[in-house]
Amino acid sequence: MKNNTPVLSLLNITKSYGTNHAIRNINLQVRAGEFVVLLGPSGSGKSTIFKCISQLAPPNSGEVRLNGSLLNGLKGNALRLERRKIGLIFQQFNLIARLSALQNVLLGRLGHMAAWKANFGLFSKSDRQLSMRALDQVGMLAKTYQRADTLSGGQQQRVAIARVVAQESDLILADEPVASLDPETSRQVLGNLRRLASENGMAILCSLHQVDLAMEFADRIVAIKNGEIAFDTTANQLSAAKVNSIYVNSQHGVCEQPTETRSFRQQVIVA
Ligand SMILES: Nc1ncnc2c1ncn2[C@@H]1O[C@H](COP(=O)(O)OP(=O)(O)OP(=O)(O)O)[C@@H](O)[C@H]1O
Ligand SMILES: [Mg+2]
Repeated sequence: MKNNTPVLSLLNITKSYGTNHAIRNINLQVRAGEFVVLLGPSGSGKSTIFKCISQLAPPNSGEVRLNGSLLNGLKGNALRLERRKIGLIFQQFNLIARLSALQNVLLGRLGHMAAWKANFGLFSKSDRQLSMRALDQVGMLAKTYQRADTLSGGQQQRVAIARVVAQESDLILADEPVASLDPETSRQVLGNLRRLASENGMAILCSLHQVDLAMEFADRIVAIKNGEIAFDTTANQLSAAKVNSIYVNSQHGVCEQPTETRSFRQQVIVA
């Protein structure tokens, strides 16, 4: 753990596409060991925040800092070295179908290897051991040699999590990691991520559409509405009024929430 510097620090991040302000003046910090969830209606700007952090779509203004170092404007090798510290997890798992679970996890080591070794896939014994431990940590050791495209969705997402563990990243960005999973499998996957924060000390920023899951797993919940932060609160201080405030009268997104979210909202409104 690195003194008191946040792993991720966003200062006044703004991103526009033409005249469309996707996000405006986002200020956000995530510390080592923290699991922060982004909530917000469709189109509110969650994925844009992730793209600004990873520099896939650099912000128009504002600062993105990783362990205190500025990411804006980095190019080439300097950017590659910083990106190695960021593990990405997507809704669609992004595994290579024909490779085994282990081979997919080993891909997390590529950024740590000399280019010529990476080209030939010459992984060391310690890379393999680290990757096996990562599979074990997410309960996937029994599937080590199984092809990725024969794994269930939840199993594939756990392999994707093992890959970012093997990558030894400091920060995990997970954009709707459980959007295509059933509620029970979603809990397993979020439980895996939660443990990476509490046991491995990783900083995790994760977007979700399910308010109930956010409350169950997050340390902090940051709500995005119309491209701005509506509130930033601890999970146990999230109230029905706060939840309603982000999903009602959103300019960007229509309120299209999954069943779990609606049922939670109905419960709290009635209560
Ligand atoms: N490449 C792009 N070009 C133009 N507009 C874009 C682009 N990417 C995003 N936007 C716009 O920016 C806004 C925020 O989009 P974003 O994808 O960040 O929303 P989101 O909160 O991730 O939504 P969802 O929950 O549906 O994934 C939307 O109005 C979207 O149309
Ligand atoms: Mg999105």
